[in-house]
Amino acid sequence: MSEAAQIAVVTGAGSGMGRVTSIKLAKEGKKLVLVDFNAPAAEETLNLIKQEHGEGIVVQADVSKNADVERYVQAALDTYGRIDIFFNNAGVISKPNLLADTPEEEFDRVIAVNFKGVFLGMKHVLKVMEEQGSGVIINTASTAGVKPEHSVSVYSASKHAVVSLTKSAAMEYSSKGIRIVAVCPGGVQTNLVAGFQKSIEETGHVPEIQYPRIGRMAEAEEIANVVAFLASPEASYMTGSIVVVDGGLTA
Ligand SMILES: NC(=O)c1ccc[n+]([C@@H]2O[C@H](COP(=O)([O-])OP(=O)(O)OC[C@H]3O[C@@H](n4cnc5c(N)ncnc54)[C@H](O)[C@@H]3O)[C@@H](O)[C@H]2O)c1
Repeated sequence: MSEAAQIAVVTGAGSGMGRVTSIKLAKEGKKLVLVDFNAPAAEETLNLIKQEHGEGIVVQADVSKNADVERYVQAALDTYGRIDIFFNNAGVISKPNLLADTPEEEFDRVIAVNFKGVFLGMKHVLKVMEEQGSGVIINTASTAGVKPEHSVSVYSASKHAVVSLTKSAAMEYSSKGIRIVAVCPGGVQTNLVAGFQKSIEETGHVPEIQYPRIGRMAEAEEIANVVAFLASPEASYMTGSIVVVDGGLTA
């Protein structure tokens, strides 16, 4: 008898690292719950998965809203009955600015998605995994979560918060069969970065993230490969780990 497929929930699945990681996990035989507030983009990810003979569902949700998070977790349980892998990845970048010039609304927007969204996802998925006695959570932080970043202080603070939540939760849940890690990309060629590059040109505020020592930004696949490894049994001794994938940016 073949083993039951693992169930992976991915937030921010409509673009960038969320999309590419979802496709990679689907190719490995996992069934996907694709969460994004941009439903057409997540549907497009599902089409790409189906082209590879994979399977999944789309849940339109805003990760910063508790009711939406409860809904995507419930949709995963209603459809597939469990959650084995949670790639807690949706995030937004702030417009580059010096701290004193950062509007309060910008602070609220970035903290709501990057910090509260990651917290809410963990809060509801951990309950499911605790009941199962197993599961892996991979939070997307950033190199800006392990070192301060010029021109995006609030974004950097939100990613430091993700690193901290990852470590605290790993302390609390690793004895319950749940591994919790964070991936910290440097610069990755995604829609997020394309928009960011434009606002750097407009504002003249340049974060150091611009200069990876390897001489180029990462392709989303180069992060997805690491996430897939972290999600796999090959990473069985990794929990509370903050995994930097940055082309030497922080070296
Ligand atoms: N691209 C980089 O250079 C880089 C570097 C370090 C960390 N990151 C982090 O990686 C993660 C993914 O970024 P990406 O570059 O793939 O970005 P992206 O913009 O290509 O994709 C992000 C996806 O998240 C979705 N999303 C945003 N806010 C949401 C919300 N409130 N609810 C549900 N979905 C939401 C968007 O619709 C989009 O589909 C983010 O957490 C980002 O901060 C990116």
